[in-house]
Amino acid sequence: MKIGVTSDLHTDVTPLNKQILPHIIEAAENAALDVFILAGDLSPNLFELAQILIAFTESDLNCPKLFVPGNHDIWVSEHPDITSEQKYDTITMVCRESGFHPLDAAPFVKNGVGFCGTIGWYDYSFRHDRYNFSEETYASKKLMGSVWNDSNYAKWDGTDSEIARRFENKLRQQICSIKDAVSQIIVTTHHVPFQECVHFRGKLPWDFFSAYMGSQGLGKLCLEEHLVTHTLFGHTHVPIRQQVGAITAICSPIGYLHESPACDLSVYAQERLTCFEI
Ligand SMILES: [Fe+2]
Ligand SMILES: [Fe+2]
Repeated sequence: MKIGVTSDLHTDVTPLNKQILPHIIEAAENAALDVFILAGDLSPNLFELAQILIAFTESDLNCPKLFVPGNHDIWVSEHPDITSEQKYDTITMVCRESGFHPLDAAPFVKNGVGFCGTIGWYDYSFRHDRYNFSEETYASKKLMGSVWNDSNYAKWDGTDSEIARRFENKLRQQICSIKDAVSQIIVTTHHVPFQECVHFRGKLPWDFFSAYMGSQGLGKLCLEEHLVTHTLFGHTHVPIRQQVGAITAICSPIGYLHESPACDLSVYAQERLTCFEI
């Protein structure tokens, strides 16, 4: 079975992020995939998010297509009268209507392989222990004039830790619900499941914002289930393929294209679609 994954298209951010979409679709079409996975951060604009999903569905990519939303997708910047929970539910509905399987709503099984997923969240457990910022400072998501924009646009009903636990528990339930019926499990999250995959630079404010990359609980529950062979994720805009215990961790993001990549857009799109066989 051949699986392809990419994430962090961010088509609202730059013209290049919009222009690369047909190249990603073409790369996926040409890869002869059995399962295609989008690991979140398409656009905060719900209409644009739906258009992206539909573009994949209407292409020649005929395999099952799975999706988990990212933090930018649940932003309510354009819909301040709703909560992120409400937007999350709407995305699930839009996802189904657009021909994608909403992986955070239910696991997916193909040929005895289980696919589980969740957006995940962060609880500051990835903060670097060299810094002594208070819990309140991390909760403010502001440092040295820089701000983590979830503080403005992600409106969950609960603290970050509570939201992180909520999504970890949902993922745990998904894994439990299929583990007796599958031979292996591929987990997809938007947030990062392993601190080993977080890049610290030894300087602020960069390292401060690493606290918002993900949660240790996500990775821990994957490592505890021996059927989990791969975790796929996005959120960090750095490509990653790394072994963590028995798990292969893969991040394959498009990221922000503020400048043209060194190579042709179609080549870049191919590079940022990671394909692997199981
Ligand atoms: Fe992103
Ligand atoms: Fe993200």
